[in-house]
Amino acid sequence: MFSLPLVLLVLFINVFGVIGDTPIFATATLHPDSNSSAKGFVIFTQLNPSSSVVVRGIINGLVPNTQYHGFHVHEKNPGNTTNCTAAGAHFNPYMKWHGGPDDTIDQRHVGDLGNIHSNEFGTAYVLINDSIIQLANQTQSILNRTIIVHRDVDDLGRGGQVDSNTTGLFYI
Ligand SMILES: *[C@@H]1O[C@H](CO)[C@@H](O)[C@H](O)[C@H]1NC(C)=O
Ligand SMILES: *[C@@H]1O[C@H](CO)[C@@H](O)[C@H](O)[C@H]1NC(C)=O
Ligand SMILES: *[C@@H]1O[C@H](CO)[C@@H](O)[C@H](O)[C@H]1NC(C)=O
Ligand SMILES: *[C@@H]1O[C@H](CO)[C@@H](O)[C@H](O)[C@H]1NC(C)=O
Ligand SMILES: *[C@@H]1O[C@H](CO)[C@@H](O)[C@H](O)[C@H]1NC(C)=O
Ligand SMILES: *[C@@H]1O[C@H](CO)[C@@H](O)[C@H](O)[C@H]1NC(C)=O
Ligand SMILES: *[C@@H]1O[C@H](CO)[C@@H](O)[C@H](O)[C@H]1NC(C)=O
Repeated sequence: MFSLPLVLLVLFINVFGVIGDTPIFATATLHPDSNSSAKGFVIFTQLNPSSSVVVRGIINGLVPNTQYHGFHVHEKNPGNTTNCTAAGAHFNPYMKWHGGPDDTIDQRHVGDLGNIHSNEFGTAYVLINDSIIQLANQTQSILNRTIIVHRDVDDLGRGGQVDSNTTGLFYI
């Protein structure tokens, strides 16, 4: 079941470009929740329906240096609010256990994108190439959902934590 994550940031994913069936772009603007000062922007690109989705982003205002933050797509669009809880659980259309970005589609939530980390200035440069999240595939589409940058590290389902199989989050 979904246990409440300790959330840091919210991003809202909105499609902004569809040209025929390719390429497809989407963007998400990051708003800090009430306990954060982090902000950012993420762009998703999928060149065609059978290609992977490249996720590029810059997030500022994180705790500097080697702070790993879970980075997941959550299932709902809660509107333009910074209430992370209202975004629901990890996006998990196939009802799988929590995993990491390198796991197969049977071993992770579709929304499991692992961790991002900040540099000495508190900035995270995100570059993720993922074939399971989709802009084109309806079932796996992350459009109109939410990305949450969590305060805490994601153990990728391997940590033996109580919630390792569900959210993978634990406090560092
Ligand atoms: C806010 O963040 C601080 C530092 O990470 C943490 O100690 C505190 O528990 C957080 N408060 C809430 C309401 O999440
Ligand atoms: C986006 O999601 C919300 C709820 O999560 C839903 O009410 C709304 O109809 C969706 N909008 C589109 C364009 O799919
Ligand atoms: C969404 O919320 C953010 C933060 O509260 C605010 O800065 C922004 O103007 C809002 N955007 C819209 C379209 O309402
Ligand atoms: C945030 O959303 C959750 C779930 O929808 C709701 O229970 C809670 O009351 C909301 N919190 C605030 C401050 O609106
Ligand atoms: C993403 O991965 C695919 C294959 O896994 C590869 O063809 C593509 O070039 C990669 N894109 C980027 C931007 O790294
Ligand atoms: C979405 O992907 C799943 C798994 O790869 C596949 O079974 C399904 O047919 C795809 N749906 C569409 C609409 O492409
Ligand atoms: C997590 O799932 C695995 C199966 O994938 C199971 O063997 C293990 O007991 C589960 N752990 C917890 C804490 O539920």
